[in-house]
Amino acid sequence: MITVSGLKKSYGGREVLSDIDLHIPRGEVVAIIGPSGAGKSTLLRCINMLEVPSGGDIHIDGRQVIYRPTATGKLGLADQFRLTWLRRELSMVFQQFNLWPYRTVLGNLLEGPTIVQRKKKSDVVDAAMEKLRMVGLEDKAHSYPSDLSGGQQQRVAICRALMMSPKAILFDEPTSALDPELVNEVLDIMTRLAGTGMTMVIVTHEMKFAREVADRIVFMENGEIVADGRPEVVFGHPRLERYASHLSH
Ligand SMILES: Nc1ncnc2c1ncn2[C@@H]1O[C@H](COP(=O)(O)OP(=O)(O)OP(=O)(O)O)[C@@H](O)[C@H]1O
Ligand SMILES: [Mg+2]
Repeated sequence: MITVSGLKKSYGGREVLSDIDLHIPRGEVVAIIGPSGAGKSTLLRCINMLEVPSGGDIHIDGRQVIYRPTATGKLGLADQFRLTWLRRELSMVFQQFNLWPYRTVLGNLLEGPTIVQRKKKSDVVDAAMEKLRMVGLEDKAHSYPSDLSGGQQQRVAICRALMMSPKAILFDEPTSALDPELVNEVLDIMTRLAGTGMTMVIVTHEMKFAREVADRIVFMENGEIVADGRPEVVFGHPRLERYASHLSH
């Protein structure tokens, strides 16, 4: 589903991702963990085409993401068409939810399908309500994001991501902005989603969740993948043990 080979990213001459190789098959749930500054978000942003890599290749569902940087470093127009197409394949859930503040919950869910995918509103309302039912927020359809708790907003953001029928969902620390008592309601939804066979790439500091829900753990440090494998193997890695003990402090 997602193949990253020899990926590099530098900012101002400083390399923050060096030679990343990662292959994520369809249906796999991968947790990316590691200390602050390791390059986890940068990796997700490169996969989701929010950052232009400095080198290497990314394939999404067998199609290569081709960049033709212009003088300003922006993507060349020739790739814009393909970029729009590829962007539809992946949805992203952010730490800060990023819901549209002036649209209702339902409005947030309908935005992508009606504007980006040009579907008729009446054709997608039922699907939106069904998603809200799944996360227990049916009764909030006509509320505004500011009237919801952080956990409720993140559940809406997950519904919004699902509305695009993506082939994979990327999560960047989806519970880090939540009060501790709200973390589990979001992790529960993600656990259920993992059970549906959705391909998920999750940057998280929730070690227990990563260990229990992910098929695979990728541990990053200093722009490199230090360990990559089944949770029981990766959690035994000496450098990860050091990191985990730091977390528990
Ligand atoms: N737009 C940018 N310009 C310059 N440097 C950047 C930029 N984005 C990220 N970096 C640097 O790249 C490195 C990796 O950052 P990144 O955000 O990917 O780390 P992270 O693993 O997600 O950390 P955290 O756990 O704190 O979110 C950091 O040193 C960061 O300062
Ligand atoms: Mg980050």
